[in-house]
Amino acid sequence: MIRIFINGYGNIGRRLASALSADKEIKFLGIAKYTADNKTQEALEKRFDVYVPSELIRHFKERNYRITGTIKDAIAQSDIVIDAAKEGGGFENKKRLYEPMKKPAIFQGGEDRHGDRSVADIIHNSRVNYEKTAGKTYVIQGSCNVSGIGRVMQPLIERFGNEIKRYDLTLIRRSADLEDSKQVHDSIEWDKNPHHQNDVKDFIPSANLYVDAYKVPSRMMHVHQMTVRFNGKSPSRDRILEAFHNEFGIALLSSAKGTADVRTKAIQLGFEHGDTNMVHIHQELLRVEDDTVKIAYSDDQTGMVIPENYLLLQSMIFKCSKTEAIRKTDHLFQISKKKKILEEEFN
Ligand SMILES: NC(=O)c1ccc[n+]([C@@H]2O[C@H](COP(=O)([O-])OP(=O)(O)OC[C@H]3O[C@@H](n4cnc5c(N)ncnc54)[C@H](OP(=O)(O)O)[C@@H]3O)[C@@H](O)[C@H]2O)c1
Repeated sequence: MIRIFINGYGNIGRRLASALSADKEIKFLGIAKYTADNKTQEALEKRFDVYVPSELIRHFKERNYRITGTIKDAIAQSDIVIDAAKEGGGFENKKRLYEPMKKPAIFQGGEDRHGDRSVADIIHNSRVNYEKTAGKTYVIQGSCNVSGIGRVMQPLIERFGNEIKRYDLTLIRRSADLEDSKQVHDSIEWDKNPHHQNDVKDFIPSANLYVDAYKVPSRMMHVHQMTVRFNGKSPSRDRILEAFHNEFGIALLSSAKGTADVRTKAIQLGFEHGDTNMVHIHQELLRVEDDTVKIAYSDDQTGMVIPENYLLLQSMIFKCSKTEAIRKTDHLFQISKKKKILEEEFN
């Protein structure tokens, strides 16, 4: 059995741990903790083995946390590591641990694709380049925004291809996640050089795409406003919606009033971690005029990348066909069922 270790137990690591611990096909070794806080207790209550840096074992034991071993021990035993370090921390882990120990790894979207701190030469987006990651040693799973963008752009490209002239995208990003203890500042912050534009071009090199990004004081979800310009008259509203009807991980909603409506519904419905794991196109905001289509969708920042990491694992390690990988992912995350429920709730 393939042995997998998750290095990090923050918002992403704890969700990955919930999913992987439920997968009977792999041996889930456990998670890494670096701070002896109540999240350690949470991991132990969920029966995850907890590994810590060797120099901190005493610190965790003083607080009566049951520790299975050191992070190095766990990595030595693993066939692949999913790195879930806080933004940028994956680079040091690669240099200090994964490369010397010759372990393949999946990195998260906060890591660099280019420059001195680049961790991999490919960004994965299951809708676009799933097959290209098969057998790779290091791959970045695109961030929540980048994953959502690929999921929406690719069906349009497949349907309308050369008819599309350019994409302009405004990302309205949440400032923090619901579980984050950090304060949300009362400010709308801009990003003078959003990384999302180049990240998307990594897997859709031909995209004539321009991205602006703002952070708003909210914890719920991101909203993306995508403007698509066509060479001539744009396709009808029905043809645009048709392109998304049967898409895995895209729900078509009509009556949500905002991101909190969707998140709160997911929590009320008992979806694990309150995640929908998808993007939600808000049909009532879809505008079609002359050569232009405007599409607005919300993107479940925390949930979106978890099935994406799982799909990436199916390609890198199991070399599964995409159809089989989607079948397995749907079984584990119940994406199709959640999509149907959300579409009924917000019809
Ligand atoms: N949050 C999201 O919505 C989201 C969505 C998509 C992608 N991402 C990306 O996913 C990554 C993780 O984000 P996050 O939101 O989960 O961050 P987070 O909640 O801040 O958690 C980061 C974790 O890193 C751990 N850590 C500290 N030093 C470490 C090390 N050397 N190696 C590994 N882990 C270490 C921390 O452990 P202790 O708590 O024990 O100190 C903490 O649990 C980032 O690249 C981020 O950009 C995040």
